[in-house]
Amino acid sequence: MSQIIVQGGSTLSGSIAVQGAKNSALPILAATILNRGETVLRGCPRLRDVDASVRILRHLGCEARWEGDALVVNTAGLCRSDISDTLMREMRSSAIFLGAILARCGQADLSYPGGCELGPRPIDLHLTGLRDLGADIREDGGRLCCTAPRLVGRELILSLPSVGATENLMLAACGGEGTTSISNAAREPEIEDLQNYLCACGAKVSGAGTSTVTVEGGAALHGCAYTVMPDRIVAATYLCAAAAAGGVARLTGAKERHLATVTAALREAGCTVQADENDITLRREQDLRAIRPIHTAPYPGFPTDAQAILMATLARSRGVTVFEENIFTNRFRHVDELTRMGADIRVSGRVAVVSGAERLHGATVRSTDLRGGAALCVAALMAEGETTISGVEHIDRGYEDITRALGALGAHIRREDGPDGE
Ligand code: UD1
Repeated sequence: MSQIIVQGGSTLSGSIAVQGAKNSALPILAATILNRGETVLRGCPRLRDVDASVRILRHLGCEARWEGDALVVNTAGLCRSDISDTLMREMRSSAIFLGAILARCGQADLSYPGGCELGPRPIDLHLTGLRDLGADIREDGGRLCCTAPRLVGRELILSLPSVGATENLMLAACGGEGTTSISNAAREPEIEDLQNYLCACGAKVSGAGTSTVTVEGGAALHGCAYTVMPDRIVAATYLCAAAAAGGVARLTGAKERHLATVTAALREAGCTVQADENDITLRREQDLRAIRPIHTAPYPGFPTDAQAILMATLARSRGVTVFEENIFTNRFRHVDELTRMGADIRVSGRVAVVSGAERLHGATVRSTDLRGGAALCVAALMAEGETTISGVEHIDRGYEDITRALGALGAHIRREDGPDGE
């Protein structure tokens, strides 16, 4: 069992590069299926969920290998359209393979992704949209048996702007006939990155980043080389780390326009944030102060993925900050762990009230989910004494090497791996 051990109290100083975005790489890896050729995916982060995608691609008959920081995928040899329950459960976003496999093979047989540590993770909007495009989908004991000899483009309206449903439907629509428009589409930057990848393969997709994405289906796709966008949530994590610990940190490769709500919150809390096209520098010299309420919302609102991390940052601040979580039902599990470190946080339903503490202290805590785990690392930086964080496998789903990154900024942080390497 791995642990991360942090000695709190050092201020941060230095510069680090931000890794490629997990939430871009995963749908793009599913999309590689559409082009029957070779994709050189540069800047692809080396993460557990990326490894899970590689296992799915190989199981389907595709080739995938690392060349430096590029993942090279060749989907010419795809020879099956089913994914086992075990592979599906390895990664929450495996549902995204459904649209791609259907578009390529006209059928797909995979299992329901099921719930996750953030609460239920339904895919009803994905399935409704695919049915509207002409797929026949039967649900049988947790398996989804899908056939679609023809997918036919049409207007689709999502009842809420789901990121995964927008991506799945974009991929299916690429393999369909005619024009598909997806209204109330998610506007996350990762949707735009998926569009850019698809267009680099020869697809005709437009509108990503707005509420209507349009796909002209049926274009013959080819391989390409593509660079994944920087990870805005990882960037938010390291900015929050510098805000919590104090000092100055420069993130290269990060784009402030992708995380403007997070930098606005950090400025309001008393940090100085300066940004160029490709980097962000945060300086924190005075005590942090409470800020106006944070309401998580679909992009361009405040990202649910940064909620725990900002909450940890403000656990030691002057005043009271209210957080309202509007995307997932079970996303305050980090609160009990932060409380062990001396944080004063009260939860009622979807609202958490953070009364800034004067000091936090080291403790033995457990990551309950990916961003909750990152939040504990952030809190540990400003706690007095030593914090031991278990459940590191959650953090590994989204951070290439959080101990190396924070260590490069001057944090006293190390990882101890158990005998099984886990
Ligand atoms: C993606 C991100 C995740 C982020 C989330 C919200 C990836 C791999 N993951 O997840 O990090 O936290 O966006 O920004 O990109 N919903 C339904 N029915 C559906 C689909 C979604 O009710 O068919 C609900 C979900 O339960 C949730 C909300 O819609 O409450 C948002 O989900 P969605 O935008 O789909 O998130 P994901 O794509 O799963």
